[in-house]
Amino acid sequence: MIDLSSDTQSRPSPGMREFMAAAPVGDEQLREDPSVNRLQEMAAALLGKEAALFLPSGTMCNGIAFSLNANRGEAVVLDQESHPNMSEAGGPAWLASVMLRPVVGPRGIFSVDQVLPLLSKGGTHSARTAFISIENTTNRGGGAIWPLERLEEMRALADDRDLRLHMDGARLLNAAVASGIPAATFASFVDSVWVDLSKGLGAPVGAILAGSTEFIERARLLKHLFGGAMRQAGIIAAGGIYALEHNVERLADDHANAQFLAEGLAGIPGVKLVYDTIPTNILFFDVSGTGMTPQEVERGINALGVRMGGGYDGAKVIRAVTHLDVTRDDCATALEAVRQVTRGGAR
Ligand SMILES: Cc1ncc(COP(=O)(O)O)c(C=O)c1O
Repeated sequence: MIDLSSDTQSRPSPGMREFMAAAPVGDEQLREDPSVNRLQEMAAALLGKEAALFLPSGTMCNGIAFSLNANRGEAVVLDQESHPNMSEAGGPAWLASVMLRPVVGPRGIFSVDQVLPLLSKGGTHSARTAFISIENTTNRGGGAIWPLERLEEMRALADDRDLRLHMDGARLLNAAVASGIPAATFASFVDSVWVDLSKGLGAPVGAILAGSTEFIERARLLKHLFGGAMRQAGIIAAGGIYALEHNVERLADDHANAQFLAEGLAGIPGVKLVYDTIPTNILFFDVSGTGMTPQEVERGINALGVRMGGGYDGAKVIRAVTHLDVTRDDCATALEAVRQVTRGGAR
């Protein structure tokens, strides 16, 4: 199966598996796992933060950061389509007891003007706004990258209004490779930031949360509380080390493949790209012009050995995400599958 449903479908390569098998390990809870410690040091340096913490998932990174960046009952401004608002099983409410104040930014990139009306210092009636959460790149925004000027404006606002800034950097390294701007530069504007190791970087498990030493010490407590503290976790952390050493620069191939895919899709009668630019590795397309539903197209291409993700925008569009297990030839095959299936549609 050529799996373009998500970059989470990437699998550990033979080289990564070998490296993982040979990893030195210790008790991670006691901070004695050399591989976990090494990965955390590498990530802190990469993100330009004092400290970093290895966690089982990006969702746990958000759960912990949301809990630490706000007090119970306080409010968070974030994009309507952002992962914590759409896809974390109510984690912000359940784990962090925060109120979400969503805004709708073009491609998930919102402005200071949109945030301003949602800010509150608190009092007896309104919840104090504690922080702003930024997704970079934006998943449902088609892999869009936050411009540095926009981050700078958010930082100035945060400083002025005593807010914290959090960055969900599940795909921050895609942003860094595509823009040529170091991940640490993006991260320099925010107080807490994390990157996922299990998406385009190809590791099987894990994410890294980074921030000040004090923040990460408090994050350790919640890691334990949420059941995320592990034992000989060096085996999986080694996948992350390998990913950071081997799989970052090659994200450029995924971006080029996404571009190739987008250009091909745009040439198929009745198929329309949702966004006119493809900054990184995610694209969405609308098949309504073919007379077929996205579900019919998905079923058709599945039968030809190609998977793309549905369920986005009320299941009205199809998502395709490139990653290290999808080659340029695979993308050409996927395009042919969409072409073949939609030719059967009633136009
Ligand atoms: C933007 C974004 N944030 C958070 C997550 C959650 O990451 P994880 O699957 O590692 O829990 C995802 C996963 O798809 C994501 O796309």
